[in-house]
Amino acid sequence: MLGPTHSERALTPDFYHYPWARLASVAVDGHFLVLRWPDGVSLRAFDRWLRENAVGPGGVDPATREVGVDPAHIPAETAAAAVAITAAGALRVSWQPDDLDALYHPGWLRHVAEGRHMVDAWLPEPIAWRAADLAEPPTIDGRSVLTDGTVLEEWVAALCSHGIARLRDTPLDPELCGQLATRIGAIRDSNFGPIWDVKAELDPGSLANTTTRLCPHTDLPTRETPPGFQFLHCLVNTAAGGYSTMADGLAVVDHLQRNHPDHYEALTTLKWIFFNRGRQMDHRWSGPIIDLGAGGGPMTLRAFHPVRAFPDMAEADVPRAYDALRAFSEAAADPQFQLRYPFRPGDVVGFDNRRILHGRDGYESSGARHLRGAYMDRDEVLSFARVSARRRWEAATAAAGDPERTAGPPRQGVHEGAAT
Ligand SMILES: [Fe+2]
Repeated sequence: MLGPTHSERALTPDFYHYPWARLASVAVDGHFLVLRWPDGVSLRAFDRWLRENAVGPGGVDPATREVGVDPAHIPAETAAAAVAITAAGALRVSWQPDDLDALYHPGWLRHVAEGRHMVDAWLPEPIAWRAADLAEPPTIDGRSVLTDGTVLEEWVAALCSHGIARLRDTPLDPELCGQLATRIGAIRDSNFGPIWDVKAELDPGSLANTTTRLCPHTDLPTRETPPGFQFLHCLVNTAAGGYSTMADGLAVVDHLQRNHPDHYEALTTLKWIFFNRGRQMDHRWSGPIIDLGAGGGPMTLRAFHPVRAFPDMAEADVPRAYDALRAFSEAAADPQFQLRYPFRPGDVVGFDNRRILHGRDGYESSGARHLRGAYMDRDEVLSFARVSARRRWEAATAAAGDPERTAGPPRQGVHEGAAT
């Protein structure tokens, strides 16, 4: 059996390595090409989708691996004039009317057939938790987090699955929070600045910077898209009290949906205007307390009552909206959902700001408590998680000894290996 040629192996519309997965057959069914593998897995590929994913002129640019063709320039009469499986198991298509002969990597096609191209495919499964499930946040030794990439990858994977994860014993460096965040991606700036302090202040701009209790909440629901993740690095804590509280919104929402369907309906549909009441700013957004997101996600909890300003609903709905709000707050503070723990200097606690309801007990002003924080958008954290999951998958594939796997990383900016 022939192995793939160099040009066959190099042909993918992205920069990942795919294990070679020989195709068994291809057939044309109207505008779809029906691809089958020996183990019965199949893929129906629309002809113009395959055409625009041919690497080369009129398709995917070999340098950037981005689709370089305007849909207006793909003829409606585009059709596969001839299809074949090569001796090595790749797909060959002769496209008309542009008279293009294209080769497709069967491992890349297989990853589509297996759904590995989907948004959540490379992310850890979310694990909903209650207080009984977690004695403390998932915790990782953070002493080498700035020098050992695997520590950061492990922490981010736990952030994605549990919505909360802690690094312990990190350096007591005021710059650490920013350094840590930028290793993952771009920091989400806000009116608090890119890196902000949480400590009692004489003229606080937020209740966070007082010694008062903070009920379970999520930050910045005044924004169209609130920050996805929040990191808090503890530099000093000699104050009595001030325990952090965390509740998993996935579990709280599930509880409300099962046990209080009327409140759940009100919480997911009736909108409130969130308004930050700043002296020099006026951020506002209108949304439900439980925003399920378009098309099933991601869910965003909008639950910071200091900035929940006005009902944005019909008058008749306002009483039941307040009843539902009470039920939500009672559930969020219920001990069955609440994880409680103290901050220790050197701790970095990260959490999903749109999923986890975070809060804090009040604390004694006689002690000192200083945290430094940063926000990141979900996109940054999830991109980091996908890249690290792909890297582990590629390493495992290599370790398994796939004899037909491309040796070495794809070379950016090199045009050899184009499908045309
Ligand atoms: Fe907060």
